[in-house]
Amino acid sequence: MNTVEAKSRIEELSELINYHNHLYYVESRTEISDEEFDGLLRALQELENQFPEWADANSPTKRVGGDITKKFPTVVHEYPMLSLSNTYSTEEIIDWENRVKKGVGGPLNYVCELKYDGVAIGIRYENGEFVRAVTRGDGMQGEDISANVKTIRAIPLKLRGDYPAVFEIRGEIFFPLANFQRLNKEREETGESLFANPRNSASGTLKLQDSSVVASRGLDCFLYGVYGEDLGTIGHLETVNKAAQWGFKTPKEVLNYIRKVSSIEGIVDFIQYWDKARADLPFEIDGVVIKVDDYQQQKQLGFTAKSPRWAIAYKFKAERVSSLLEEVTYQVGRTGAITPVANLTPIALGGTIVKRASLHNSDQIEKLDLHEGDIVYVEKGGEIIPKIVGVDLSQRKATANKIEFIENCPECNSPLVRYDGEAQHYCPNDTGCPPQITGRIDHFISRKAMNIDGLGTETVTQLFKEGLIHNSADLYDLTLEQIEGLERMGTKSAENLLNGLKASLEVPFERVLFALGIRHVGETVAKKIAKSLKNIDNLLLATYDDLIAIDEVGDKIALSIIRHFRDETNVRIVDKLRSKGLRFELEEIAQDSNKLEGKSFVVSGVFTLFSRDELKKLIESNGGKNVGSISAKTDFVVAGENMGPAKLDKANKLNIPILSEQEFNAMIS
Ligand code: IVH
Repeated sequence: MNTVEAKSRIEELSELINYHNHLYYVESRTEISDEEFDGLLRALQELENQFPEWADANSPTKRVGGDITKKFPTVVHEYPMLSLSNTYSTEEIIDWENRVKKGVGGPLNYVCELKYDGVAIGIRYENGEFVRAVTRGDGMQGEDISANVKTIRAIPLKLRGDYPAVFEIRGEIFFPLANFQRLNKEREETGESLFANPRNSASGTLKLQDSSVVASRGLDCFLYGVYGEDLGTIGHLETVNKAAQWGFKTPKEVLNYIRKVSSIEGIVDFIQYWDKARADLPFEIDGVVIKVDDYQQQKQLGFTAKSPRWAIAYKFKAERVSSLLEEVTYQVGRTGAITPVANLTPIALGGTIVKRASLHNSDQIEKLDLHEGDIVYVEKGGEIIPKIVGVDLSQRKATANKIEFIENCPECNSPLVRYDGEAQHYCPNDTGCPPQITGRIDHFISRKAMNIDGLGTETVTQLFKEGLIHNSADLYDLTLEQIEGLERMGTKSAENLLNGLKASLEVPFERVLFALGIRHVGETVAKKIAKSLKNIDNLLLATYDDLIAIDEVGDKIALSIIRHFRDETNVRIVDKLRSKGLRFELEEIAQDSNKLEGKSFVVSGVFTLFSRDELKKLIESNGGKNVGSISAKTDFVVAGENMGPAKLDKANKLNIPILSEQEFNAMIS
């Protein structure tokens, strides 16, 4: 392919990817599989690598991130980013509506919207291209966080349709609840401190230096306001709906996320609807916003020093109950992190009975100034566990003692430590403290780590209590006789467990590395380390400098790895696991030949001679390349049974030779 052909192919692929991206992230529909989508993206990335002259700052390949921003430049807002005046009562909304009616003549329409609980963003577009995204900051100037914002799939990098030449669009970036909960679960698994709520974590994520981490977190964005010279529209709702046509994710009338009403009754109705229905939304809102629709009328009403007179926010009161703090207990995680938990007299809140609330760390107890026997206020936010937001001081007895954070581990009595810059206390006895030991074994056997069938948390605790295992490596010493006699076991389950352990010998190095449970070494980092260092010996010998040279490994992770292997027990576990046959080396694909060099293949369907993975390996080990979807660039399709008719059709149209697995086999032998 020459450079001219490359240019048009890059444009074609970019358009196609943008189309499917919009379909998926804005319209929540799909026309192609994830695999096909990834194939298109890979093809584009390869072309961009090959023909860097056509690099485009708004290419869909930028969505995966990778750009590092050391310091976010300050940008002055062309239109100040104001705030809204808040109210908590319908009476004040009625007063506001009366003021509005007095301020303007003629019939009035209001647009009611959700008040998204996230981070405000202003994005500038010129000639249909994303130019920059800036945070609110102090309202007059904010920070340019473009590299991070570009990774958010709901935000278009190129516009479609009939957009104004230059404009700024504003909206709210937020953490969908499901992604927020997934992130906190992952952080718990790798021993990181947890984010308090979706809003904080969205804001923290947007300030990360490494945009590829931002990309992995799954932020989302609704756009709700357009600012520019000649927008060609006369009202707010019309503009929002226009913006949808340019490719933005805007609130939809069909979902009742936005509604035009013409009276106070309509406004109150919208408020009451969402006060209840917000519990079922997949993201958090903290109220609704009411705006005068007509731009002329907005202009007539104008602004106060801080906020527009033509808009107002109604904030929901968080559901709050009070209950007796019966006791503070302390949990020990697998990393030794100590989490204080408030045990409450059971009380109904938001449809569930609450018995416990997380107190996060000692600072939190200090901040709340908790005393024994306090009556505390409890609220439920985006987090699954409710939180204590305050104390009813009027009910505290003068003699009540302050709650003092513990000094020793509740499980093994070791004196607790607190590392510099961390909010959490830790039990340092990682090799002797029971919940840390079983917690690490639980992590070792978990699905994303060794994925050992037939073994769960309860059995691990049982095996530990019986003295049969002291660490993950001991699992591989277990015999049928030892386990079949255990409570709730039996021969069948015992055999399952042993088979599960045997199968785990095939688990690749990067997952074994993740399974070791080194603090701060999550799945992705384990992969990067495995790829870079190739085997465990290189990791054991790696210096701090070797480690931080690896992609995504910074100071914290490097130090944690060094600390982990400085402990003899951990090295012994690795030695034992190795002697049991676990994989401690990256499986390199050995090169059989270069018969397929320069050829790209699509493998599709079900096969009999080989598995799909084997076929793909064979293609690579003979110099060929696997691609996800059929395009004019594909050289061969290897087709098994049940290949999809659409694919077959496409291959035929593009005149791409279709090979059976036998024909393929002949090609390489
Ligand atoms: S309109 C002139 N609409 O609330 C004010 N803001 O206190 C224009 N927010 O900074 C803001 N949802 O971050 C508007 N549907 C919505 C909103 C919304 C959330 C946030 C936004 C803004 C803050 C105002």
